Amino acid sequence: MAGLIPQYFIDDLLTRVDIVDIVDSSVALKKAGRDFKACCPFHDEKTPSFTVSQNKQFYHCFGCGAHGTAISFLMDYSGLDFIEAVEELASRAGVEVPREEGDFSKTKDNSELYELMELVVRHFCQQLCESPEAHRAVDYLKQRGLSGEIAKEFELGFAPPGWDILLNALGTSDAAKQRLALIGMTLEKDNGGYYDRFRDRIIFPIRDQRGRAIGFGGRVFDDSLPKYLNSPETPIFHKGRELYGLFQARHQLKDMERMYIVEGYMDVLALAQHGIRNVVASLGTAVTENHLERLFRVCPQIIFCFDGDSAGQKAAWRSMEIALPLLKEGRQIHFMFMPEGEDPDTYVQKHGRKKFEDVNNYVPLSDYLIEKFKQETQLDSREGMGQLVDGIVPLVGKLPAGALRELLAKDIARLADMNIDSLKNLIDQKQTPVKKTQAQHLVSTSQYKKESKNHVADAIRLLLHNPELGMTIEPNTLSDIETQGVGFLRELLTLINQQPEISCAGILEHWRDSKYAERLNKLSIEDSLLTEPEAIKVELFEIIEKIKYDYQKQLRNKNLQKLDIKNPKKARSIIGLSPASNSEE
Ligand code: CTP
Ligand code: MN
Repeated sequence: MAGLIPQYFIDDLLTRVDIVDIVDSSVALKKAGRDFKACCPFHDEKTPSFTVSQNKQFYHCFGCGAHGTAISFLMDYSGLDFIEAVEELASRAGVEVPREEGDFSKTKDNSELYELMELVVRHFCQQLCESPEAHRAVDYLKQRGLSGEIAKEFELGFAPPGWDILLNALGTSDAAKQRLALIGMTLEKDNGGYYDRFRDRIIFPIRDQRGRAIGFGGRVFDDSLPKYLNSPETPIFHKGRELYGLFQARHQLKDMERMYIVEGYMDVLALAQHGIRNVVASLGTAVTENHLERLFRVCPQIIFCFDGDSAGQKAAWRSMEIALPLLKEGRQIHFMFMPEGEDPDTYVQKHGRKKFEDVNNYVPLSDYLIEKFKQETQLDSREGMGQLVDGIVPLVGKLPAGALRELLAKDIARLADMNIDSLKNLIDQKQTPVKKTQAQHLVSTSQYKKESKNHVADAIRLLLHNPELGMTIEPNTLSDIETQGVGFLRELLTLINQQPEISCAGILEHWRDSKYAERLNKLSIEDSLLTEPEAIKVELFEIIEKIKYDYQKQLRNKNLQKLDIKNPKKARSIIGLSPASNSEE
């Protein structure tokens, strides 16, 4: 369990680092009198009004009002969360972050694992040059249209065929062998010993936002399955949190106007090859709120690239639902649909950069929302208009108040031939829940997002109905989380991982005489609204991400409170968060 970061440490840390260095390493500062100045990285401007005071260890923009400390700069500019920002500062100051409580063995720093990861990255790169089989990998990359420069920048590598190549190269001691297994690079044999996880594959190293190697993807050369193999969840790799290519994109581009989200490694690489550098991949998983918040911290516009097929449509709908509550003023989301049978990789190879970047291809989220409903309801009847309003109002209600919500309301009122004020009233009382039948009827692809706040119960329910899905989740992924019920969820995942064949009944039996029995029984008879296996899998994955995310947020808020419980406003301003609290809650 990760304990809280003690307040004295944060106080001390802020005296050890200099905000001028921190800011200057991202935004070049010029001395101006006693202060330093630059064009503001948080808004567009020609004359510098962004000021950093060395004295106060504070930055302030006279143009847009952005202000804060070194911690908030790392949060708002580099997109780190609170804990990450503190860790980053600590690592720059060369100190370790202590924790106030909890299990220290688990919170001990992972620097050894990160170092080993770097060796693994280098090993695979070396194999791409030196292995006797390397020509196959090189030919493959060439055939996919990738140049040596791109391969080098993204540190593409090669895992030659063989069961112990990495193991022999880096597993030089028992401790090293254990660490290789811990970071997911080797697997344990039944009769003892280890073997390489990645064999005969092209290797894509995944770096986190701070540039640390945290995991790998590996692609086969032919049609064998699985096409991609990824690192499992490890102490340093959490798939649903990371975005492939974000580190490289931010390294290449200082100010990004927009960011494309694509699905796969090869999409990122092919677009980079064509000079489009503002691209990240969600690695085949559904995009999470956490992903989007991260991206919105670095640029104001996100463009989702989806396949034109029905899976792409579904993913688009789902992403829209996730994005709605995040669309504060100044943020934009667009959708781009690939023609049937194409993905961004094949599209850019075929049609080139200009066409890919043609803004006419991008559908604004609000247009997408309205069009979707228009397609699926009969607007020539009162019933149809009613359906439109009933279906769309709860979605619009998810938008933060602002211009977009107003404009959408106006459009909907016109479409449904309704008085704008009555419609706005409906939106404001957004408690109008999306009714299951209506939502499913209106939007065939809707995943019907439940209003439920109890993610842990949701996860347990999904697992009870589909225990096999537990095999896709590593119980340790929740090991740092203290949210109520997570302990049980972890036990459930462990049980499923130990007994992959277990059924719902088996699970109920397992806890028959325990205090959990009654609750489990109840959950087991509640309906799951999803029926499609892939959708259930995605849903479960998302719920797990939400549990983690909410816990992080809670931790951060606790930290805020600890700063000064009697004066939260002041506490926020000390660590550089704006006093208006809505945006952070
Ligand atoms: N993916 C995965 N495991 C699989 C299949 C896919 O993790 N078995 C993830 C990978 O991150 C992959 C992404 O989903 O990059 C998209 O998958 P897909 O569209 O099947 O592959 P492409 O990216 O188009 O790969 P390629 O062009 O090499 O066939
Ligand atoms: Mn592809």
